[in-house]
Amino acid sequence: MDLKGRGALVTGGASGIGAAVVRRLSSAGAHVAIVDRDEDAARRIADEVAGLALPGDVSDPDIMPMMTSIAEDRFGRLDVVFLNAGTTGGQTGTSDLDVEHYRRVVGVNMDHVVFGTSAAVPALRRAGGGTVIATASLAGLMPLAPDPLYTMTKHAVVGYVRAAGAALADEGIRVCAVCPGFADTPLIAAQKGQFGDFPLLTPDDVADAVSGILERGKGGEAWFVQPGREPAPYGFRGVPGPVGGTRPPAVKWSH
Ligand SMILES: NC(=O)c1ccc[n+]([C@@H]2O[C@H](COP(=O)([O-])OP(=O)(O)OC[C@H]3O[C@@H](n4cnc5c(N)ncnc54)[C@H](O)[C@@H]3O)[C@@H](O)[C@H]2O)c1
Repeated sequence: MDLKGRGALVTGGASGIGAAVVRRLSSAGAHVAIVDRDEDAARRIADEVAGLALPGDVSDPDIMPMMTSIAEDRFGRLDVVFLNAGTTGGQTGTSDLDVEHYRRVVGVNMDHVVFGTSAAVPALRRAGGGTVIATASLAGLMPLAPDPLYTMTKHAVVGYVRAAGAALADEGIRVCAVCPGFADTPLIAAQKGQFGDFPLLTPDDVADAVSGILERGKGGEAWFVQPGREPAPYGFRGVPGPVGGTRPPAVKWSH
């Protein structure tokens, strides 16, 4: 992967999967901006890769436009945006709803992917094309019963990426998702003891998948990542069409 002189931005880049991808992009020659609400950790990783630490809460609608603009100005261009910050549901969201907490989870897992993509696309157009990769999860492809809220947000990311990827494909802008299984990061530290000898991904395994998407991914794809398997686009089953229907019309929506 040769990203010499390219500009990249990674959210949640101060820890776990994000930090591994920051290191990967930097070693491929990219200039990397790290957006994370953990300011000290963001500065530590930025110092390590001679990157740019941009502390902030990605669920704030003003933050992603501001950070993409700073990164583009500083690097002269923006080519790769990895929208990776995320958190678990923290409640079942079925009978025990804490609305304030729910908004925070949706804010980082879902809103920030939309805010980040909307902010990135004009910059990627100015660069002549580029790639947005959002971190969903296997919980974006299947239910994670103990965490329905997390499952909802990650399914939303997969749906958004599939539609946005198709919508932007003609412009040379790829929007994709990476869908890791359980990965050994601080996110699952409290549950780690329960996994026993169940194989966990390393953050580097997920960085390998992100490299794979950058090398050969297509817009709208959602790549699964599982220990010991080659990461690849998930093969969605088609949905049944109407009886007697042919291809659906290319409907134009008025926005
Ligand atoms: N660890 C897993 O098992 C696993 C599996 C599948 C998907 N994921 C997804 O991978 C992504 C990265 O998670 P990780 O496992 O590396 O966890 P992590 O806790 O190590 O890293 C998450 C990072 O996001 C940052 N962050 C969280 N909320 C933020 C906010 N509102 N604004 C700015 N920064 C914020 C945190 O400070 C942290 O640095 C998440 O989207 C997570 O849902 C993780």
